[in-house]
Amino acid sequence: MISNSAIKLAVIGGSGFDDFETLENTKIINLETPYGLAAPMVIGQLEGDVLLFMPRHGSGQRMPPHMINYRANLWALKEQRVQRILAVNAVGSMRDIMAPGRLVLPNQLVDYTQGREHTFFTGCDAGLEYIDFTEPYDRDWRNTVLRIASRHKFSLVEDGVYACTQGPRLETAAEIQRLIKDGCDLVGMTGMPEAALARELQLPYAALAVVVNWAAGLNATPITVETVYRQLEVSIAEVKRLIGAVISGLNN
Ligand code: HPA
Repeated sequence: MISNSAIKLAVIGGSGFDDFETLENTKIINLETPYGLAAPMVIGQLEGDVLLFMPRHGSGQRMPPHMINYRANLWALKEQRVQRILAVNAVGSMRDIMAPGRLVLPNQLVDYTQGREHTFFTGCDAGLEYIDFTEPYDRDWRNTVLRIASRHKFSLVEDGVYACTQGPRLETAAEIQRLIKDGCDLVGMTGMPEAALARELQLPYAALAVVVNWAAGLNATPITVETVYRQLEVSIAEVKRLIGAVISGLNN
């Protein structure tokens, strides 16, 4: 019997990562929260430790980035008393050192999304809290991931600025030039409001960005679903190995 107080690590899976087939002794939890139904959670064992896996787009019928119920998902993870979250996001790159195939642990983000349910602080009775979001990703937790990755010789790009766009369409070439001017390195559609909601619930949260394409207009070849999924297949296998090292590394 798996006890929830022992869930040291929750992994939120993104595009190309809606299944964690190496988890053993799994149970699936579908939780109705005050914000609606959360994406399914799979609790199982990896390398002898308990891991919770949540594919943020759901499984089967997939929610587009702007329709994901981020509040329900994060609330459900809090209810399961997970100790920390590693979120996996497919991204386009705007930097040479972050070529397709690279894994990046962003340290900053810029939010370009609109109209998403982005906070738990809604009614007057809930009060108003200004959360500190100077560093959107948990510094200690990021450092732990970096230390374990380096010990196991995984090649991770240490820092990067993640731009979260609204989607579901990809960006125009001019929009990408604007993001570059804004100081962004990577572009994806699912990092926000997820990171902020985790902070509101005081859940340590770090993101692992999986570079799957050059951002729009930076490369002569157009971005296609086929090339993105071909890259994801290779990269997610490495992400799963890294997660195995991270969960074992949390013990020592
Ligand atoms: N833009 C936005 N989101 C993405 C991209 C991109 O180029 N690639 C993967 N997710």
